Amino acid sequence: MNLKKITRRVGLVALASAAVLALAACSGGRSGSSGSSSNPKDITVGISMPDKALQRWPSAAADLVKDLQKDGYKTDVQYANSSTSTQSQQVQNMANKGDKYIVIAAQDGTTLGPAVADAKKNGATVIAYDRLIMNTTDVDYYATYNLQGVGKLQGQAIVQKLGLDKGAKGPFNIELLGGDPTDNNAPQFFKGAMSVLEPYFKSGVLVSPSKKGVDGNFQQVAVPWTQQAAQTEMQTRLNSFYTGGKTLNAVLAPNDAQAFGVISALKAAGIDPSKVVITGQDCETQNVPLIVKGEQYMSVYKSDVNLASTVTLIISDVTKGKTPKTDSTSANGKKSVPTIQLTPQMVTKDNVKSVLVDSGYISASAAGLN
Ligand code: BGC
Repeated sequence: MNLKKITRRVGLVALASAAVLALAACSGGRSGSSGSSSNPKDITVGISMPDKALQRWPSAAADLVKDLQKDGYKTDVQYANSSTSTQSQQVQNMANKGDKYIVIAAQDGTTLGPAVADAKKNGATVIAYDRLIMNTTDVDYYATYNLQGVGKLQGQAIVQKLGLDKGAKGPFNIELLGGDPTDNNAPQFFKGAMSVLEPYFKSGVLVSPSKKGVDGNFQQVAVPWTQQAAQTEMQTRLNSFYTGGKTLNAVLAPNDAQAFGVISALKAAGIDPSKVVITGQDCETQNVPLIVKGEQYMSVYKSDVNLASTVTLIISDVTKGKTPKTDSTSANGKKSVPTIQLTPQMVTKDNVKSVLVDSGYISASAAGLN
């Protein structure tokens, strides 16, 4: 699709959702707390987050609440405890209460169709946060970081640190981990990473003793988003493929929780993690000191402060009757969802201070810098 068509489509979709909103407002059929007022102080924004287990989601919710309250909105934050049915129930409650906006980081983007359909029926604008809501027309906007871009940064970090771009011939042993099979983002991260690593597998400079995922098959490397799952997977691979002193040079770990699990497995097996190039994502505060110590080579920073202000801007535009500016669309199986994609940033120990400490995300002492 050319740019003109995309822009026109985004415009049409936005126009359609504005029309639905206007209709809902005129009909007076909404019984919820928000009514038809366009004054933020009469409007509740429901925020549905998948879990509190990962630092990322409570911190994203706090950033959203801060921004929205600054603009005068009321907020209602709910966590789904990693349960798809709990999240559907919570979104349904938000819809029934008449929340005018519902911002959702999906536990599983494929299971929310009926809940967001109810939200739309009650006149809400539905915004997918970080993870796309799939197979439904009832999602209005999607705000995220460039997903394949995250994976590309992870792949590039491995290439640079092993010196592959400078002609190092290896062969280097690498193990690939993917993210959670229920998270639509996970295959995208893996695709991005493999777009960078694949040529080196082809030329034989990178070799994976387990062979898992080397053909780009995400299912072979899908591992739930937990430290424990990644630790167990890594332990199994070390026991099966690295006996007899075989050296492990790199691990593609898709996020920091998994990187933490990988590092634990390596330490338990007597392998020094600082000799292995290990990637991550999120710059979780428990991982930042590991990056400074050199035990984890890199992470990818996706500032929730910036993503939250992006979402707040979408909400503020819709409230004012303006069409939010989007930069792309994301196909969810039923619709091209107007999307804003922010740019993720690579963090290694060289820029922990400038990117994470100087921005106020983490203190120098929590980062392990003093
Ligand atoms: C997010 C990552 C996060 C992972 C686990 C993904 O959808 O994009 O930032 O690490 O979920 O929660």
